[in-house]
Amino acid sequence: MRKSELYEKCIFPFIENTHVDSEEAHNRVVGILQFLQSIPGGLSLLSVLSQPWGGKDNKEEIQVFGLSFKNHIVLAEGFDKNGIAVPALLALGFGSVIVGSVTEHQQDGNPLSRVKRLPGGNILNQMGFPSDGAVQVARNLERTKKNIHEPVGISLALNRNRAHGEAAASYGKVQQTLYPYGEYFVINASSPNTQGLWKLQQPIYMRPIIESCLNQMEQRGGRKPLFIKVSPDSSWEEVDGILKLCDEFNLTGIVATNTTTDACRKSQLGVAGEEGGISGPVLHFWSTEVIRAIHTQSPHLAIIGMGGVNSGETAKEKMDAGASLIGIYSSLIFKGPSFPSELARDLKERIRNDRI
Ligand SMILES: Cc1cc2nc3c(=O)[nH]c(=O)nc-3n(C[C@H](O)[C@H](O)[C@H](O)COP(=O)(O)O)c2cc1C
Repeated sequence: MRKSELYEKCIFPFIENTHVDSEEAHNRVVGILQFLQSIPGGLSLLSVLSQPWGGKDNKEEIQVFGLSFKNHIVLAEGFDKNGIAVPALLALGFGSVIVGSVTEHQQDGNPLSRVKRLPGGNILNQMGFPSDGAVQVARNLERTKKNIHEPVGISLALNRNRAHGEAAASYGKVQQTLYPYGEYFVINASSPNTQGLWKLQQPIYMRPIIESCLNQMEQRGGRKPLFIKVSPDSSWEEVDGILKLCDEFNLTGIVATNTTTDACRKSQLGVAGEEGGISGPVLHFWSTEVIRAIHTQSPHLAIIGMGGVNSGETAKEKMDAGASLIGIYSSLIFKGPSFPSELARDLKERIRNDRI
């Protein structure tokens, strides 16, 4: 039995039985990670404890969009919103961590309790970008940067009280503040929990947002890879508009996908009529199809594929559809700390077998 199966069958049900609020449990875990990364030997301990049976063997040298990654597995946006536990998360075996989403100013997000674990390894998220704000996130990353040795991505978002007309300046400000701490950046206007945010995916709003982020990069020292994250619920016309903008500004690529608000999937999971976005296995098929469509239309763009990856098989399906890297969030919650390394190893073997 794999360590992640053991976690899923024995440890996770125990955590569920404590009836601690999901977000509270999450914060406690991040607090433990933060503590471990701050003590001598803590990162090595994490690395050893999270090792799958038979050792890690998940290291390879992957070159994508001009950066080098030790494996294909990325921690998706939302897990470490404030960039406080990046060294510890990398010690679990991730090839990269995407910090955020980060807003310009501190905000609390929606009222608690706003994260629900659902059957089948799915999650309902109603958070609405709680963020310490860009300046504090920069401080957090500054404090731990000496222990960060893999590429870090940073997701940029908008405070809820900002008008659409202020969006470009605000995204640009986050970009400017966090420029030194990220190797690549993601514009997020596809989260479902900030009212009206989705509108910013329209070219009339997205064009000035991109221009603002690129201008800030030029002023701070030059362009770094820039991505746009898309929703699985967008129409093809909307996605196509974003792909055209990627070409117009020579952007690096797309993160596909964010969570879904689809009513059928919500009712299937017993949360019909609830606000928020669903992530986890119910999203896998659809997000993979979005990746395939994007890759077919724009094969030159890099794609960070995410949505319901919970096995080597589902990760490989996303790679076959056109993803260059694979992001996970929900499966880490249900399968535990050794899952990133297990997944990286499994995917590496599948890619190697394909080549034979
Ligand atoms: C609790 C929670 C919080 C999230 N927060 C963010 C966020 O701040 N920004 C973002 O772009 N995506 C966020 N996401 C979406 C994930 O990054 C990812 O796109 C989605 O969960 C699909 O991947 P998964 O099925 O592996 O979880 C969040 C997801 C969850 C479950």
